[in-house]
Amino acid sequence: MTYLQIDRVTKFFPSHNGRGEVCIFRDISFSIEKGEFVTMVGHSGCGKSTLLNIIAGLEAPSAGSVCLDGQRIDGPGLDRMVVFQNFALMPWLNVFENIELAVRAANPRWNGKQAAGYVQRYIDMVGLKGEEKKKPAALSGGMRQRVGLARAFSVKPKVLLLDEPFAQIDALTRGVIQEELVRMWMAMRNTVFMVTHDIDEAILLSDRIALMSDAPNARLAEIVEVAIPRPRTRETIVEEPEYSRIRRYLIAFLAGGSKKMTPSRAMESPALQFGFEPRRADGNRRWVSRRLLRLFRSDFGRMDEAQQREP
Ligand SMILES: Nc1ncnc2c1ncn2[C@@H]1O[C@H](COP(=O)(O)OP(=O)(O)OP(=O)(O)O)[C@@H](O)[C@H]1O
Ligand SMILES: [Mg+2]
Repeated sequence: MTYLQIDRVTKFFPSHNGRGEVCIFRDISFSIEKGEFVTMVGHSGCGKSTLLNIIAGLEAPSAGSVCLDGQRIDGPGLDRMVVFQNFALMPWLNVFENIELAVRAANPRWNGKQAAGYVQRYIDMVGLKGEEKKKPAALSGGMRQRVGLARAFSVKPKVLLLDEPFAQIDALTRGVIQEELVRMWMAMRNTVFMVTHDIDEAILLSDRIALMSDAPNARLAEIVEVAIPRPRTRETIVEEPEYSRIRRYLIAFLAGGSKKMTPSRAMESPALQFGFEPRRADGNRRWVSRRLLRLFRSDFGRMDEAQQREP
């Protein structure tokens, strides 16, 4: 049986001009198996956070349903832990207490000693040994996010929901925490649904990547398998041919305008077969020979035209 089932979920929000409602996304259906790591990628505003909030039970779908382990979701619960972009720690509690609060809530029958040993295990796991007594204000962004991850993992939720968990962290720290997340996930095999803008992060972490088209009326365009063996590290993954292939695929989807071009069309592009990525080629125009640039442009132009002719 499917573990997490998102079934024809549609979301309307009141429109900004106060007239009627706007459909953010429509008929989103996919499932996540137990122990799977699935990431969602799409342009800003396509409704990724909204969908994650619906799975968390913090937001209600306008139509459709979400079922976890055979149970329909109709509100928040400790079986789904969310790690937000803005950390969402209790500012008046220290590192230890922030995690302890969640552990005690999830295991109300445990005594203090049992809970404390357990909390410490997760603090050690995310490399915060010695920082237990610090309040969030005294922590760096990376440390706060580690507390958030330790808190989410310590509850052993059925599903971990991560909404751009590393977006506010500097690139160096982000890499380190991403690998910590890979290690924790490999050890525990939690079921994870993550939203990100970072395609390298998506490829490093995911079993599958869900691509959303643009709002309004966004759709689930495609789900891409990441058939790269684990364990993966940032150093070794870049040597995998599959890594570059998937990366080009995702960039083509995002750069091509997710409404105009499907990833499969983008892959037919000679520009991409030459190994040029649209964004990079644009940014480094000086370095790309004129001829290739022309080919590249005409190719995308043709695809746009073909797309416009379609009903
Ligand atoms: N409570 C709300 N009321 C009205 N509109 C909302 C509400 N929450 C979100 N929206 C709108 O729904 C759309 C999708 O928002 P959402 O935050 O889910 O996008 P997102 O894909 O997560 O974007 P980003 O990548 O920038 O985080 C946006 O246009 C947003 O303005
Ligand atoms: Mg968002």
